[in-house]
Amino acid sequence: MWVSRVLWLARTAALLRRRLLVAPGCPRPATTAYSASADPSRVRALVYEHHGHPAKVVELKNLELPAVGGSDVHVKMLAAPINPSDINMIQGNYGLLPKLPAVGGNEGVGQVVAVGSSVTGVKPGDWVIPAAAGLGTWRTEAVFNEEALIAVPSDIPLQSAATLSVNPCTAYRMLTDFEQLQPGDSVIQNASNSGVGQAVIQIARALGLRTINVVRDRPDIQTLTNKLKNLGAEHIITEEELRKPETKSLFKDVPQPRLALNCVGGRSSTELLRHLAPGGTMVTYGGMAKQPIIASVSQLIFKDLKLRGFWLSQWKKDHSPASLYRGAFNITTLPKRKMLRGEVTCSRSQ
Ligand SMILES: NC(=O)c1ccc[n+]([C@@H]2O[C@H](COP(=O)([O-])OP(=O)(O)OC[C@H]3O[C@@H](n4cnc5c(N)ncnc54)[C@H](OP(=O)(O)O)[C@@H]3O)[C@@H](O)[C@H]2O)c1
Repeated sequence: MWVSRVLWLARTAALLRRRLLVAPGCPRPATTAYSASADPSRVRALVYEHHGHPAKVVELKNLELPAVGGSDVHVKMLAAPINPSDINMIQGNYGLLPKLPAVGGNEGVGQVVAVGSSVTGVKPGDWVIPAAAGLGTWRTEAVFNEEALIAVPSDIPLQSAATLSVNPCTAYRMLTDFEQLQPGDSVIQNASNSGVGQAVIQIARALGLRTINVVRDRPDIQTLTNKLKNLGAEHIITEEELRKPETKSLFKDVPQPRLALNCVGGRSSTELLRHLAPGGTMVTYGGMAKQPIIASVSQLIFKDLKLRGFWLSQWKKDHSPASLYRGAFNITTLPKRKMLRGEVTCSRSQ
């Protein structure tokens, strides 16, 4: 789903209520600001002042663009999608909530228009994506701090760049951080047609992993099956098929998975657990069914299954350049780097 739809909805709602306003005196959200500009109407944004149903609380507003400071980057947004977490954030049901009023949108890609005097990481023309959640990407232009952005190649498809920072990263981390999988090992997941699920299929394929992909049944299931197979999915089964005893025969062909990725919860997650290999891990990253996870006592005792959770926003926080630098400085990386530089210099001069 793309932001143009929200823009349209908000524009319609705003026009109906005749409330297309310049945001006066909005306090500064985390990484941007509303201040004086020669042409304030240039910047349009989808803003919410209260949590609630997105169609009711999100409004299209004209915002003022702040001046570009030394470490700032002026960005023109090129594309921004609507992710389920954007909706949860507006509703107020998310683990991380920006200060209100806030601009919606956590993902997107923009092009650098201008940079401050101390910016070295990006230059005008570069494409950039948010480094962390909460940036507020549903706007036409913004001034962000350099640290809030990551440069990406500008020769990849626009839609891929705009959706790079959440789902593919989630898929990659979950495939690599919980179990030491080798080529030929298998992974089972539900909601396999979701954005994350499709990224899991493609990255798993690139890593040589075999995927068992569970989807909800639908009249055109063959169309979905073909689409996922084209992405690299090996097996596609419906939730109903997963519950049947004969599904066990699948594991004559594929090794039992040591990793299950759960986007759904409820009965679907119980079924994933039933097919995990002893000692395996189920990683929960979504709760689409809004049902708790039920694991049988015997699965925990006799199979020693592990239940873990993953949240990309926390991962990014824990691995931000600032937190990595703090850790590195206290331990050994900095002296090692110095030593390595010394060695390189030595060998060059010989
Ligand atoms: N923890 C993290 O770091 C992290 C990162 C990224 C995403 N997420 C979460 O992962 C979830 C998926 O995100 P996405 O962007 O991939 O979503 P998406 O592309 O919109 O896909 C949603 C998926 O959920 C399924 N679904 C919806 N309602 C369901 C229900 N009641 N029971 C079972 N399945 C249901 C859909 O299946 P149908 O096609 O059958 O409707 C579809 O496969 C969201 O909850 C999102 O917040 C978490």
